Amino acid sequence: MKEARKSSRDDVKYCHTMNQKYYVTTPIYYVNDIPHIGHTCTTLAADALARFAKQQGKEVFFLTGTDEHGAKVVEAASKEGVPPQEFCDQVSQRFRDIWPRLNIQNDYFIRTTNPKHKEIFSRLINQLYDQGEIYKKKYGGWYCVGCEKYITEKDLVDGKCPDHNRPPIWQEEENYFFKLTKYVPILIEAIQNPHSPYYYQVEPEAKRNEVLSRLKDDVIDISISRANVPWGIPIPWDKEQTTYVWIEALCNYYSALEINNRLDFWAKDVEIDHLVGKEILWFHAAVWPAMLIALNLPLPKRIFAHNFYMVDGQKMSKSLGNVIAPEEMIKRYGVDGTRYLIYTSFPHTNDSDVGWSRFTEKYNSDLANGLGNLVSRVARLCEKAQLEHKPEVQFECPNEFTHAVNNLKFDQALAYIWEKITQVDKTFNEQEPWKQSGEALKKTLRTSVTSLHEIAYLLTSFLPQTAEQIKEQFTGEIQARTPLFPKIDA
Ligand code: MSP
Repeated sequence: MKEARKSSRDDVKYCHTMNQKYYVTTPIYYVNDIPHIGHTCTTLAADALARFAKQQGKEVFFLTGTDEHGAKVVEAASKEGVPPQEFCDQVSQRFRDIWPRLNIQNDYFIRTTNPKHKEIFSRLINQLYDQGEIYKKKYGGWYCVGCEKYITEKDLVDGKCPDHNRPPIWQEEENYFFKLTKYVPILIEAIQNPHSPYYYQVEPEAKRNEVLSRLKDDVIDISISRANVPWGIPIPWDKEQTTYVWIEALCNYYSALEINNRLDFWAKDVEIDHLVGKEILWFHAAVWPAMLIALNLPLPKRIFAHNFYMVDGQKMSKSLGNVIAPEEMIKRYGVDGTRYLIYTSFPHTNDSDVGWSRFTEKYNSDLANGLGNLVSRVARLCEKAQLEHKPEVQFECPNEFTHAVNNLKFDQALAYIWEKITQVDKTFNEQEPWKQSGEALKKTLRTSVTSLHEIAYLLTSFLPQTAEQIKEQFTGEIQARTPLFPKIDA
């Protein structure tokens, strides 16, 4: 904890970080599925990073959205008996509704059926064609509509795609191809060498190694068009074909900024951070950077790929009926309860196994009995002692905490805060303020209140509402209130 001493040096540092820009993105979600905690964890991760960057004085743009073209969406729409655009409008709305409910503050929500996205993408793809980066050839392969990609026979289990439990279909047609293989040596260099003009980070390390070994071993040019998928953006120079959904989807990160007149965020000195799940890393860490190099545009600085949520040992999926929806979590645990449970279980490097009973147990022990109980006890004694408090200390985030947040090690960042909570609780119990009176009592209470302000400061990026409530409750005349996190029956 550091006393606030505003020196001119602090001002210089502050001005410097003010100029720093941070652009964070989530994948744009397919509208064939409704929002679940797999989508939620990435969007919450981006929200914490965006809030944290703002707290550090950076200028931030945070993007999320929906991916609305392709065979998969048409298939889902026809199952519902609704025309594709109407279907997209409905499902996209579910994503747009749930993020504000979780107090997620994205700056823009992109939809790939937005005519402006189509216009910008058409310009970019035309540029690649004019530069000779695209050619036409006949191609046949096994296509999984669930993955929206060609898969090889060695990926199949019992003749089916293991991720979607369905057989792929043989597709043979004449398509346009982007010369991905041409960029392989530059991409390997860009990932490995910090001095490369194209340097970008792929994290965590194991994922970076996977991308590198695939780049060194198994790359073919990528098909960028489809002959029989009418629900897509037409190829500008050949109206018989539409764009392969992945190619235009990747361009959302750029088009969203142009739509908002914020291309100042797509610049070399901006920290551009793409957060994705592990199964879509290749598109982000190889295909997208190659397209950007070909387009002569700056590259992202980091691509971070997380693992998956499993539910009680099984992959979460609609067909297994074990999908955990954020709405259901909010009903049980409230907004910040849900945020806490998602951050602490974030599948950083390994898959994360979650389930209702474990969520409830964690909620009760860390939030109801931990933070919530401490806040109530301190507030009750402050009210009795008629303590008034004027917060004067300014806090800074310790390096260890900052490092954990920036590396998406949210469980570690929160464990750091919870160690403080345990410490404050312990000191409070040792000092037994309920047996004290007069100045001694006030001193003990002031120390606890200042610690609670520090805890609130550190919680800002994760549990913003709770952080605000604590700051407000312990400023001026302090009063006891209803519990922040009511205990839940297991
Ligand atoms: N539309 C593409 C992304 C295009 S980005 C230019 C897509 N959409 S998706 O809706 O299928 O998946 C979006 C994200 O959700 C992926 O990052 C994926 O990893 C994540 N998750 C889906 N199920 C998941 C879990 N069970 N656990 C954690 N995240 C998982 O792919």
